[in-house]
Amino acid sequence: MTLYPFSPSTDAHVDLSSQDAFNNGAPFATFARMRRDDPMAWCPMSNDDKGFWSVTRHADILALNRLTDLLSSARGIRMEDQSDEEYEARKTFQETDAPQHTAFRALVGKAFSKASVAQYEGQIRAIVDDLLDQALELRECDAVKLVCRQLPMQMLAQIMGVPDKDAAWLVEKGDALISNADPDYTDFVIDKVDTAEYRFLPFRSPAAVELFDYANTLIARMDAGEEIGVLNLVRQMTRSGHQMSNDEFRNFFCLLVAAGNDTTRYSLSATFHALANDPALLAQIKAPDFAEWDLAADELIRWASPTSHFRRTATRAFEWKDKRVEAGDKVVLWFMAGNRDETAFDDPFTIDLTRKPNHFLSFGQGGPHICLGMWLAKLEIRIVLQELARRVKAMEQTAPHSYLRSNFIHGIKSLPLRITPQ
Ligand code: HEM
Repeated sequence: MTLYPFSPSTDAHVDLSSQDAFNNGAPFATFARMRRDDPMAWCPMSNDDKGFWSVTRHADILALNRLTDLLSSARGIRMEDQSDEEYEARKTFQETDAPQHTAFRALVGKAFSKASVAQYEGQIRAIVDDLLDQALELRECDAVKLVCRQLPMQMLAQIMGVPDKDAAWLVEKGDALISNADPDYTDFVIDKVDTAEYRFLPFRSPAAVELFDYANTLIARMDAGEEIGVLNLVRQMTRSGHQMSNDEFRNFFCLLVAAGNDTTRYSLSATFHALANDPALLAQIKAPDFAEWDLAADELIRWASPTSHFRRTATRAFEWKDKRVEAGDKVVLWFMAGNRDETAFDDPFTIDLTRKPNHFLSFGQGGPHICLGMWLAKLEIRIVLQELARRVKAMEQTAPHSYLRSNFIHGIKSLPLRITPQ
């Protein structure tokens, strides 16, 4: 059996601002060097934008993510510069600080709480079984295309209350938004094509126009008194008397379609990849007495680290690790680097399905913007693991995998597998 390892890049000096930085696997050697030698590292941007500070140690990421009066989300969360006009036009509640963020988060948070998403367990299992039926019938398939790419949006469509038949279209548009650096998913590749015309749209992507049209029909239905899944929640008045405008709703809809689409997918593709290349892991979850499903899901999300970073902006000057950060400087929290920090995890480059404690950072833990879809993603991954353990006898990778072109989202985008049913 040929093995196709995760193969992180061994180059210790990767340009982290480049969309090509992750093409051949994550730049873990660069992060290891930074954690060791320069934990608050100044990194230039390869385009004309201003450089940024890179934070790579687990303890620093956690500490700085909590200091929200010092590090704001309200000046953009990606490393690229944005003008005030672009920021205003494109912002969602993810690009706001307290108290505005707190108020909206309280509205939508309830719909995605652990208790609320638990009600979807049966629906998730039904989708997973249907997708696995198809994969097991084919025996040989691209597991990302057939399974990992489908589940998150099929479930999110049901939660949002939009027709199942629209899920495939939403996947396509969500990919065009968030995978805007990968020519497999968009013709408007952010660092190759002039996207100035689209600068006021989420992700500078024309796909947002189509999603805005779709959101407009949802707004019209809600205005006519219809209840549509969880979406009505966000249009309620917050306690502070603020109501999401139609512009903000359209951006929020795009955010859900983007954020709920690919991150769970790449956790799943890392899971399939791990099980196919390490039969001991599959054997471990197939053991009749294996019960640590939640720990296993957490560990695989740590391992996958689908969102490599999020950016903040300094609200005033401060010192960190003997470096002076000026007001307005961009500070990038590399959650992925924190997930491989040897001072926070024993043997961080090994998958330990029963790792406990596991203070992983993939969801932006510690900060107020901690992932809204965290409980949903964990549940989906747990159910996929359980169904794979029940229904699959063996899994083998049959050809090399490929990675998404992006320095923001990290993941395996194609994974040829042979899957043998139980
Ligand atoms: C394994 C899967 C996922 C990962 C690794 C992930 C990662 C993250 C991270 C790191 C953040 C924090 C951003 C920051 O600190 O600025 C975040 C926020 C967010 N995520 Fe996720 N996410 C996942 C799944 C989902 C899903 C399924 C949804 C949709 C239901 C979702 C919706 C959101 C939203 C709306 C926010 C913004 C929350 C806020 O600003 O308060 N995510 N996610």
